[in-house]
Amino acid sequence: MPAAAERLATLDAIEARVWAELAAAPQDKQHGWRLAVLATIDGDHADARSVVLRDADAVSRSLVFYTDARSPKVRQIEAHPLGTLVLWSQPLGWQLRLRVNLTLEASGLAVSSRWARLKMTPAAHDYLSPLPPGSPLERPQVERGSREHFAEVTATIVLIDWLELHPEGQRRALFDAGGRRWLAP
Ligand SMILES: Cc1cc2nc3c(=O)[nH]c(=O)nc-3n(C[C@H](O)[C@H](O)[C@H](O)COP(=O)(O)O)c2cc1C
Repeated sequence: MPAAAERLATLDAIEARVWAELAAAPQDKQHGWRLAVLATIDGDHADARSVVLRDADAVSRSLVFYTDARSPKVRQIEAHPLGTLVLWSQPLGWQLRLRVNLTLEASGLAVSSRWARLKMTPAAHDYLSPLPPGSPLERPQVERGSREHFAEVTATIVLIDWLELHPEGQRRALFDAGGRRWLAP
């Protein structure tokens, strides 16, 4: 569905489509927005890494990612629960820069039920390493451990900075608590 064929005219229509695409992305491995870059604050510098979008909810304006509870990003989020997510979709020609508040959950009913589903899949391996991510290793890989270190990161969106690349000219818009407005790209 190329953006060029149906360029959306109004800010309302663009915001609705942004949420429809975010809701579709977790189930669609081909969707560019399934993979995001999450930037966080690490002391006095920035850090960033790829994460897979697992869930999106337009009502609470939130996105969910999974991670290893011992990973450096978790410590960074605990210290500074502010982040930026960057997503790009080639077919849409749309970049999103999302200013987000980050919260962590490593226990509770929602986390246990997600883990119960995930542990039956190959992705479970990512959360079963006996060593925390970033630990120095003698060999390139570690054996699978038996205890999971699974955590969910919820990113609540406070601002959407939308950029459209298009042959007829770029467009940019901002969506936040102050409303919707066009910006110079
Ligand atoms: C395609 C791809 C998808 C990834 N998805 C995730 C993810 O969903 N969650 C995650 O914690 N790390 C994911 N990673 C690994 C992170 O990018 C990162 O290397 C790792 O989590 C350690 O990050 P940290 O040191 O900032 O905690 C992914 C990496 C790639 C290349």
